[in-house]
Amino acid sequence: MEISVIAAQSLDGFIAKHDLPGTDFTSEADKLHFSRILQTFDALIFGRLTYEVSRTAIRARLSTSLPRFVMTRNPGAWAGDTVSGQLEFVSDTPAALVTRLRDRGFRRCAVLGGSQIHSLFLENNLIDTLIITIEPRLFGRGVPFLHQRMDAKLRLEGAERLPASDTLLLTYRLIKLPRA
Ligand SMILES: NC(=O)c1ccc[n+]([C@@H]2O[C@H](COP(=O)([O-])OP(=O)(O)OC[C@H]3O[C@@H](n4cnc5c(N)ncnc54)[C@H](OP(=O)(O)O)[C@@H]3O)[C@@H](O)[C@H]2O)c1
Repeated sequence: MEISVIAAQSLDGFIAKHDLPGTDFTSEADKLHFSRILQTFDALIFGRLTYEVSRTAIRARLSTSLPRFVMTRNPGAWAGDTVSGQLEFVSDTPAALVTRLRDRGFRRCAVLGGSQIHSLFLENNLIDTLIITIEPRLFGRGVPFLHQRMDAKLRLEGAERLPASDTLLLTYRLIKLPRA
């Protein structure tokens, strides 16, 4: 199964601005790119905080063809939000979740943040590609792309300017080193 992180960030590496949760800073060009690229995946994963911030938008777009999995250590608290086959709250380890999704026949999975979930999947060596939008913004403070210190190596696979914008779309593949 191919697993990609999809995120939008400021040029200085923040996925949310200052202490304002959400992705209101993203451009129309990114919103279009985001909605299009999601259609190329067959499962989506995000963290509970991202779910809470975007709950209304996420719930408005639920579908059986693109199930959503929300990572939380307390899935029971979200039983009332569960929609069978469309929205599940899971406390699996990232590796166990990936195995479960693979066993269910999913082939392309998008990890949609936030910062904690990016780090969790990267630390566990489960990410194949990063598909990153760079918005022409500087925030100085905010939620960083990663929650933990790390040192991963990447290969650039694509760089393009999104149409009629100053927004860059960068695609990187993780270089997975053999385990020592
Ligand atoms: N610009 C972008 O592309 C983008 C994308 C996504 C999100 N965001 C922004 O990023 C911010 C949220 O990011 P965040 O890092 O604060 O939170 P997050 O990664 O969305 O969610 C963190 C939550 O995930 C759950 N979690 C973490 N580790 C886990 C584990 N090992 N097992 C099970 N569950 C686990 C925990 O939920 P419980 O506390 O319930 O256990 C934790 O509180 C928001 O402002 C959001 O708008 C931006």
